[in-house]
Amino acid sequence: MKVKILMVCLGNICRSPIAEGILKSKLNSNNFFIDSAGTGSWHVGNKPDLRSIAVSKAHHIDISNQNARQFTYEDYKNFDHIYVMDQSNKKNVLSLAKTLEDRNKVQLILDELIPNSNLEVPDPYYDEDQGFENVFQMLDKACESIVYRFLNF
Ligand code: 4NP
Repeated sequence: MKVKILMVCLGNICRSPIAEGILKSKLNSNNFFIDSAGTGSWHVGNKPDLRSIAVSKAHHIDISNQNARQFTYEDYKNFDHIYVMDQSNKKNVLSLAKTLEDRNKVQLILDELIPNSNLEVPDPYYDEDQGFENVFQMLDKACESIVYRFLNF
């Protein structure tokens, strides 16, 4: 059975599409299903932000085929691990949890890199391009830690 991992941010156009693309590039799709979603609905159906597409492309990852969607309760049923980018995403995702099992699936993605640090991946939406590169670097390191965690799958 595949391990199912969901990346979540606010709009699903900047951070979580990059996280999805990076993790897909590091894990075998025969063993892992990886997706992303946003807690907000404003960008549903949209392609990732052009700056997210560009920074990923610069690192040889194509995320241009992704389409934004909104996180729903169904995602708790469909995914084993839900990685959120910041505390606000965490609060919004947890607000839909029904069971302790649901709640235990949710984790700040940078806690995977530095446990219990409570560090956030900053929203780069109003940043220059450098903000997107910084986000890429953070997510690349965090995804590397996720790969180590699932090394035996
Ligand atoms: P994301 O960034 O949560 O990383 O996709 C954002 C994109 C759009 C908006 C906010 C954050 N927005 O307000 O439209």
